[in-house]
Amino acid sequence: MQDLDAIVNEALGLFSGIEDADELERAKARYLGKSGTLTELLKGLGRLPAAERPALGSRINAAKDRLEAALKAQRERIQGCKLAAKLAEEALDVTLPGRGLGTGGLHPVTRTMERIETLFRSLGFEVADGPEIETDYYNFTALNQPENHPARSMHDTFYVDDGKHLLRTHTSPIQIRYMEKHRPPIKIIAPGRVYRVDLDATHSPMFHQVEGLWIDRHITFADLKGVLADFFKRFFEREDLKVRFRPSFFPFTEPSAEIDMSFGDGWLEMGGAGMVHPNVLRNVDIDSEQYRGFAFGLGPDRLTMLRYGVNDLRLFFENDLRFLKQFN
Ligand code: FA5
Repeated sequence: MQDLDAIVNEALGLFSGIEDADELERAKARYLGKSGTLTELLKGLGRLPAAERPALGSRINAAKDRLEAALKAQRERIQGCKLAAKLAEEALDVTLPGRGLGTGGLHPVTRTMERIETLFRSLGFEVADGPEIETDYYNFTALNQPENHPARSMHDTFYVDDGKHLLRTHTSPIQIRYMEKHRPPIKIIAPGRVYRVDLDATHSPMFHQVEGLWIDRHITFADLKGVLADFFKRFFEREDLKVRFRPSFFPFTEPSAEIDMSFGDGWLEMGGAGMVHPNVLRNVDIDSEQYRGFAFGLGPDRLTMLRYGVNDLRLFFENDLRFLKQFN
């Protein structure tokens, strides 16, 4: 029967071109549905002579089977394509370069702080720490600055809550905290943030200090000069560095000095220092007849200015990446 082969060929051709699952089902209905071509042919068998029915019937059924098989194969193909398309869409190409999250770097002042720690550790100093919110006692009183002492006005202090607490104006209170807990020999540095009502090219309201304290039986001012001169030379990697000790006053040291370094045509004050005042040792129950020593407080922000040739301190704390990037 010519017709049947033609129908089958037409159907197979049609099915193989369809890419959409619903469309394929609609095409199936045209041949195998209730009034599909093949279904109609089967229905027509009844009108044929009985002798012809079995042969034609089995040919029609074979044709139906071929169409079903073709449909099944095509369904699977469509399904496979869909999956492949989905996978392609969701594909993650792990060989592509990243989006370029820039690598960060250390802040120039952090670099200085780390450098200071390394250098002082190599001189045998340990690193101590203390709170940024201090009491009046540790920031002033224990450091030989009783209430109403005129030296208190040297610091423009940020007070918090009832006036009993304050943002430490220097790292010197760490001296007291440390000496309360440890007996000599004591040999520490204490880096940290400090706060003062202050703002210009060489002053910032938040800045850093590194405290130094060395207490033992025979420490002299010569040791102070030796340690600091050695530190400055190593920090700036220059033997010809000009450092000046200028007589000064601090309530917690006697004698006291200001340490300056040459900066442009003049000098920039890098820190204060002196021999620890006997009253301070007394406040922490250390026998000042037996023990003495020196203390210093350096300004690492200013050390950073000098090391990198920056002439305005405020740049360090504005967080402008164009500025900060230059140090990495
Ligand atoms: C003190 O704060 C003393 N505690 C230092 C000291 C410690 C003396 C131990 C003796 C013994 P002074 O106020 O001078 O001292 O500050 C020390 C250093 O901190 C200054 O030399 C300067 O380098 C730095 N400094 C002070 N104020 C600021 C500021 N507003 N911004 C940046 N650096 C500052």
